[in-house]
Amino acid sequence: MRIATTSVTPDIANDFAQRLLAWFDRHGRHDLPWQRDATPYRVWVSEIMLQQTQVAVVAPYFERFMAHFPDLQALAAAEQDEVLHLWSGLGYYARARNLHRAARRIIVEHQGRFPEQREALEALPGIGRSTAAAILSLALGQHHPILDGNCKRVLARCFAVPGWPGSGAVLAQLWWLAEALTPVERVAAFNQAMMDLGATLCKRSRPACSLCPLADRCQALAQAAVSLYPAPKPRKQAPVRIAQLLLIQDQQGQLLLQRRPPAGIWGGLWTPPELGVDADAKDWCQSQLRASVLRLEMLPARRHTFSHFQLEMRPVLVRLATQANRVGDEPDVRWVNPLKPGALGLPAPIRQMLNELGAWPQAAAEVDNACISSERTRQE
Ligand code: ADE
Repeated sequence: MRIATTSVTPDIANDFAQRLLAWFDRHGRHDLPWQRDATPYRVWVSEIMLQQTQVAVVAPYFERFMAHFPDLQALAAAEQDEVLHLWSGLGYYARARNLHRAARRIIVEHQGRFPEQREALEALPGIGRSTAAAILSLALGQHHPILDGNCKRVLARCFAVPGWPGSGAVLAQLWWLAEALTPVERVAAFNQAMMDLGATLCKRSRPACSLCPLADRCQALAQAAVSLYPAPKPRKQAPVRIAQLLLIQDQQGQLLLQRRPPAGIWGGLWTPPELGVDADAKDWCQSQLRASVLRLEMLPARRHTFSHFQLEMRPVLVRLATQANRVGDEPDVRWVNPLKPGALGLPAPIRQMLNELGAWPQAAAEVDNACISSERTRQE
């Protein structure tokens, strides 16, 4: 991970803030319901509602909430059910429960006065560093940088900060930039402007760079790489599930396929029998086919990637010594010529595996056999 090397001189910081504030004065959002009578209580409620939820969705909920709970005392005195009822439809209900619990704690721990120190706010449920900073800057003009998702995107792009903002080092670098850029004057306007820019122009997809007041100094734009910032969360390596695939050939070289259950991977398709990695192939043949095994050979493993895991298939070539006991005509079991399995639905990696079977010396003879015997069957 690159260590923060971005330098923000006072000139850069000043230019950044001036451009942003000039844009905000003309194009920012100035008539949001919580901007009227922006008390800490109202701004707090709005900031919690705005977490993970867009302004247009929040506005009517905010108005209704304020009509019911016009102040901290009213909220603290309410039953949790009333609060949740007014929240219903906004989602993420832990936010409502935390809001209610925090209101009650302010009554008890702060004698009903809304705390005006960042540390005190951050100690309350549901309030993190950025939310505390937003409340105190927007409502009281205190000098605190904010760093919500919109701000992270704006800063990561403008200063070409590599890495995923959820990682500690990247987050620290973004906070450092936010600190360095937040002006002493007009903090509330600056913070609102950062959020507005992120929400309206510097959007996650299809950002409107031609309208952006920071375009001239945006390093991601200069690299023609806006879409690469901020970097997405690194994908976790998908877990690997290991299975044995039994490529069982009878004395005629025919290969056993089974239809998989409808649910689960490859549901309803035909594959060789799949066994757990520790299961014993010989035992399986004995118990399921009542056939004994002449020869076993491990073929090279291969992996197939599904959306949430990788399947490592360990093919085991099994040559039967005795005739398999083909009990009746089971609808979900077939013996096929591996090179011409017929009109069965086979997963592509399995079809590929069967095609390659002829290349394995042990299997080749059986596959030849299978071809001859299926030719014979057709002629008969
Ligand atoms: N998202 C979080 N806080 C916001 C605010 N004050 N205005 C607009 N969007 C926001």
